[in-house]
Amino acid sequence: MTEGPTRNFHTHGASLASRAPHISMIDLTTDAAAFLRKAAHLATEHLKTLDDRSRPVTQTLSPAELHKKLGLKLPEAGRELDSLLKDVSNVLKYSVRTGHPRFMNQLFGGYDPAAILGDWIAAVINTSMYTYEAAPVATLMEQILIGRMTRMVGFESGEGTFAPGGSVSNLMAVLAARQRAVPSARQTGLRGDEKLVMFVSAEGHYSLDRAAVVGGLGLDAVVKVEVDEVGRMRPDALERAMQAEVDAGRRPFLVGCTSGSTVPGAFDPLDQIGPIAKRHGAWFHVDASYGGSVLFSDEHRDLMRGVDQADSVSWNPHKMMGVPLTCSAILLREPGRLSGTFGMHAEYLFHDDPEEDPTCCDLGDMTLQCGRRVDALKLWLSWQAMGDQGFGQRVDSMFGLARDLADEIKSRKGFELTREPMGANVCFRYLPPALRNEEGKSRLEHQTRITLAVRSQMLRDGRFMVNFAMLDGAQVFRPALTNPHTTLEDLTLMLDEIERCAIELE
Ligand SMILES: Cc1ncc(COP(=O)(O)O)c(C=O)c1O
Repeated sequence: MTEGPTRNFHTHGASLASRAPHISMIDLTTDAAAFLRKAAHLATEHLKTLDDRSRPVTQTLSPAELHKKLGLKLPEAGRELDSLLKDVSNVLKYSVRTGHPRFMNQLFGGYDPAAILGDWIAAVINTSMYTYEAAPVATLMEQILIGRMTRMVGFESGEGTFAPGGSVSNLMAVLAARQRAVPSARQTGLRGDEKLVMFVSAEGHYSLDRAAVVGGLGLDAVVKVEVDEVGRMRPDALERAMQAEVDAGRRPFLVGCTSGSTVPGAFDPLDQIGPIAKRHGAWFHVDASYGGSVLFSDEHRDLMRGVDQADSVSWNPHKMMGVPLTCSAILLREPGRLSGTFGMHAEYLFHDDPEEDPTCCDLGDMTLQCGRRVDALKLWLSWQAMGDQGFGQRVDSMFGLARDLADEIKSRKGFELTREPMGANVCFRYLPPALRNEEGKSRLEHQTRITLAVRSQMLRDGRFMVNFAMLDGAQVFRPALTNPHTTLEDLTLMLDEIERCAIELE
């Protein structure tokens, strides 16, 4: 047994053991193992409480209050490992319970034990995805996953990689499109006379605008295309916008569609947009960060009809599929585009074996990163546990629940469904009786005021966490249904709570 206090094997490991023979490595490892077992117990006990609806989803504390509760100062001298468990308890206690069935604030939710295990083990194996020699198992897993996902999209021999989120996946798509449009840009940069222009849905994700900034194109190169009454990009508006830019001497290089838009959850008509993009020689990107999982569902797959025409697709298993953040894939139709855009062939890292196919297994030249987390393992484990069918059922049940919520909203006085839902997001507003006769601008202003006031009160109460956004002239509530444990009863209670808060606040 250890003679001294419990040791942290990072700071007191091999070197200390060799200097102080009375502290053996085996004892240190035993201490560390006991510590991690206790930590795992804490984590699993926490997970067990996530479905307990009597606990708040969130405790809204100010940064000052939270600092006081947590004591975040960094110490000069290292602490006993076991004392960290108290800190971990606090982290669990004061963090937002995103796995709670009444957390509907973001486009992710729930919890998946297999995928959580994958994230834990990724930290245990602690490797980086750049080379096969450093990450043999994870490399093969990533290849299997990317192969499967590209085939599900409909690419015969595509390629892809995991990226740290949908925003980065979208950025990589824009950079790959830019590379195809201006091959010399890789060497010389953009000269400014290329006059590239990209087209995205007016309700597309802001990461596409940011990609234009990062890619050296500038926000002026982004044309926003009108959407229809449910939030789908309008093909006729796209056609007109592209022609207008061509007439003005600019060069369309990318059309970015969305499958599952951030606020209303709309799916653009890919089968109509793709041919327009192609006709103008533009790269056709589909941001399916949120909605890509519909490809598992026999009932809803058709929402992405035409995705097989895309040049690239972003797809985040960390949203609808319940895998912990981050897990996002960027998938491309044509193999070689990623390394052609991002490859730097760093000799110190990629020791190509001339006997082997050098492109076989080192994934590092296909990404924006050098060191890269193992995101494949958690998805691979989750997929083993869920199967295609499990993921499909998850989508079906979430979309069905959204439909039920929309029907409930329509049946209640004072509630107004802003858009018919296409997926798992439901956007709506509420007005208390005294304001229901308001019309036009004044009605929208009251709806905005009520949404914001009620939402703040709900956050303070902590029983539900539901986000809001501007849609069709007013702020709306936007529950995103991504946790299979959320029930219609949770949602009707949420509507009751909104009604009660609004009446009390008026
Ligand atoms: C449609 C869409 N695309 C991309 C993103 C960005 O994904 P991430 O948060 O993983 O960067 C989001 C985020 O919610 C999104 O809704």
